[in-house]
Amino acid sequence: MRKLFLRLIPVGILCCLALPSVMQAQSDAAKSFKTNCTQCHGADGSGDTVPGKAFHAKDLRSDEVQKQSDAALDEVITKGKGKMPAFGAKIQPDDVTKLVAYIRSLPPKK
Ligand code: HEC
Repeated sequence: MRKLFLRLIPVGILCCLALPSVMQAQSDAAKSFKTNCTQCHGADGSGDTVPGKAFHAKDLRSDEVQKQSDAALDEVITKGKGKMPAFGAKIQPDDVTKLVAYIRSLPPKK
C-alpha cells in the first residue's frame, strides 16, 4: 500500500506541473480569440455577428473549416483570406498555432 502511494507521488507532482501550463495555453488562446476574432466570428465561432454576416465569415465549427489541415488554417489566420484580415503582424506564430487548436476545441453546433 505504502509502495503504491510512493509511486503515485511523482505522478501527482507531474500532473500539478503540467496542468496549469496546459490550462494557461487554453486561456491565452481564448483571450486572443476574444480580442481579435469574436467581433466577426462570434464567441462560439458561428460567425453570427453583424460584421460576420456582412463579410460572410464561415462558421468555424463547420466541416468546411474543420476538415482543413492545421497548416491551412494557420495560413488563413497569418495571411488572411478574402475579407478575413491577416493577423501575422499582430499575433505571434506560436499563438496562431494555439488559436488553431482553440478553433478545433470549439463546442460543435447544436
Ligand atoms: C473583420 C472580420 C474578421 C475578423 C476580425 C476575423 N475573421 Fe476570420 N474570417 C472572416 C471572413 C469574412 C472569413 C471568410 C473568408 C473567405 O473564405 O473568403 C473568415 C474565415 C476564417 C477562417 C476559415 C478560413 C477558410 O478557409 O475557411 C478561419 C480559420 C478564421 N477566419 C479564423 C479567424 C481567427 C482565428 C481570427 C482572429 C485572430 C479571425 N478569423 C478574425 C472575417 C474575420
